[in-house]
Amino acid sequence: MEIRKVAVIGSGIMGHGIAEVFALAGFDVSLEDSFPEALEKARKSITGSLDRLVKSGKIKQEDVASINSRLVYTGDLQQAVRDADIVVEAVPEVLDIKRKLFSDLEKFCRKDAIIASNTSNIRITTLSEGTTLGPRTVGMHFFNPPVVMKLVEIIKGERTDDAVFDAAFDLARKIGKTPIRVYRDSAGFVVNRISAPESLFFCMLLDKNIAKPEEIDTFARGQGLPMGPYELMDYVGIDTVVHSLDYYEKELSPEYGKCRIFKEKEKNGTLGLKTGQGFYKWTNGKAEIPATSPTDKVELMDILAIEVNEAVKVIEEGISVPEDIETGVRLGMNRPFGPISVAQGLTNAEIKKKLEYLQGLTGSTVFEPAKSIREGKLKEIISVKAPLSSESKTAEQASPAQASKEGKFISVDFPSEKVARFQISNTRNNLINVDVIHELEGALNEIWNNHDVNVIIITGKGNVFSAGAELTQFFASGADFMENSRLGERVFKLLSEIPKITIAEMKGYALGGGFELSLACDIRVATDDTTIGFPETSLGLLPGWGGSQRLAKLVGVSRAMYYILSAERFSGKTAHEIGLVSKIFDKAVIDQEAVKMASDLATRISPISAVLSKRLINKGSETSIDDGLEMEAISMGLLYGTDDLKEGISAFIQKRKPEFKGR
Ligand SMILES: NC(=O)c1ccc[n+]([C@@H]2O[C@H](COP(=O)([O-])OP(=O)(O)OC[C@H]3O[C@@H](n4cnc5c(N)ncnc54)[C@H](O)[C@@H]3O)[C@@H](O)[C@H]2O)c1
Repeated sequence: MEIRKVAVIGSGIMGHGIAEVFALAGFDVSLEDSFPEALEKARKSITGSLDRLVKSGKIKQEDVASINSRLVYTGDLQQAVRDADIVVEAVPEVLDIKRKLFSDLEKFCRKDAIIASNTSNIRITTLSEGTTLGPRTVGMHFFNPPVVMKLVEIIKGERTDDAVFDAAFDLARKIGKTPIRVYRDSAGFVVNRISAPESLFFCMLLDKNIAKPEEIDTFARGQGLPMGPYELMDYVGIDTVVHSLDYYEKELSPEYGKCRIFKEKEKNGTLGLKTGQGFYKWTNGKAEIPATSPTDKVELMDILAIEVNEAVKVIEEGISVPEDIETGVRLGMNRPFGPISVAQGLTNAEIKKKLEYLQGLTGSTVFEPAKSIREGKLKEIISVKAPLSSESKTAEQASPAQASKEGKFISVDFPSEKVARFQISNTRNNLINVDVIHELEGALNEIWNNHDVNVIIITGKGNVFSAGAELTQFFASGADFMENSRLGERVFKLLSEIPKITIAEMKGYALGGGFELSLACDIRVATDDTTIGFPETSLGLLPGWGGSQRLAKLVGVSRAMYYILSAERFSGKTAHEIGLVSKIFDKAVIDQEAVKMASDLATRISPISAVLSKRLINKGSETSIDDGLEMEAISMGLLYGTDDLKEGISAFIQKRKPEFKGR
């Protein structure tokens, strides 16, 4: 679908900006409005905007004439759309106005033209109802001001053709925007949907007399926001907020109708900046906010938890995927981070507890933890890659194994609280090849910032840890073989540095590459008869993936020299005697014992202390004692301010088990 001619309908705040964006990107644009004065205003706004772009060096003065020549301003809808490849409508957010326009577009547009809507909330499917435009209708939701804001939500209506969805996505890219995909047509799409419960929350805080607007806004400014929520609502227009809440009441939950004070303000016509009075009095474009101290009734964490909860619902409902939600909120709300990175940095329990508190405070089910959070599956749901359609959702979520992830070679499950287990599964003896290493890398990266995991067990499927590298793999040259060696070194280093305690469960065989993998872990456990060794030198190789280096560091040069140069196999019992293996477990129960040990460390040991100690030990062996001591003192200083130190000491005094939070 080649798109060259664009018609933008409605030349208001959004329409004129969208038309300018297309003209800047080289498209021919007709900008239509039923009101001549609106068109005149649009022409002036675009001229002013192009001037600013020239002044800031974003475009050249000599390009302005050609940009303007691509723009046609018209009051004739038929003329504007008749040869357009795509029509972008930006008429007011009033269903009847949009519906009437759609029926006109059906008459006047080419039969293959794409019809895009810039609606903020209304479902795309609803807009084309009663016309034949459904398959060609798609959402293209720009953000204000379109020339500046990078985000465009591309929304698939229930009847939208896949090709149209893709074409709109590509087009957004072509005009220099960052599009995100909205796979399910649901009120508010992604960004507005995620801020919907926030609006309700801010209304309920007033309805329930919990704090005053100025106290909350003072708090918000103290958190670094340029405007507090009420000042912002005054700026946008309280009527706009109320209309959105009314729509969410119909489409999402009747709870959105429970907001009282905002509605009263709308009825009284105290709408904010545009009427001179809203929550505040506005003079000369500025809100007069009474000086007051910030409220202590609201925390930043309240807002973050609300956003994470709604983001989880958006994923659960198959509306969008974590990556796009993160991008959407960052770009659409001008934030340094979105709800997915927030969720990565907090535990399921923290978010759940906060939401339960907010539900109690407001009495509204909108703040009830989403299903995945209730079930302790926050980390899994925010790792979803493909959209969860309603069908796939039921299949995936009904499965009790959802907490675990079945890779081709490495499966990850969570056998106990704060414990993850990576299980290698390849051939009979869990041999390690390039694909296994790549999967290990992915699994490590994914779990790196997961605060719900303090300990990782590395194990193999069945009775074997890993009998080594897959020697049948083909490498075209020595250089390729060297890169394979580098890959293993890099990923095993990642494993050795991950901020978690790692345990290698060495059962059956831990030979060659398998032994090397175990050496990159912090702790090794085995059975008496585990067969361990480096056969490499007897094969014309040498222990790679860090093997030639780490063994000497762990058991001393003399022993490493012997075991590498003799290629002699030794038992788990011997490994225990020389201190390489920390615990010996019975062969029949090593899987269970490894989990028991991991679970104990995961709950009894402060995760921050563990990570800093691990770094000190690893780095300390490579540095001078003076530098090592300095690092130790700095680490102590870091620990001093942590909640975990306070918790560790009070638990000790109160003779109870500590509850470490990792901060
Ligand atoms: N303002 C925002 O921040 C924002 C952001 C994203 C999306 N939107 C959405 O964009 C759309 C437009 O919003 P806006 O803020 O630009 O509104 P606006 O009121 O500034 O502009 C609407 C324009 O449409 C014109 N118009 C009205 N009926 C028309 C018709 N039948 N045919 C042609 N023109 C007509 C009006 O004269 C006006 O110029 C809405 O759907 C809104 O939800 C707005």
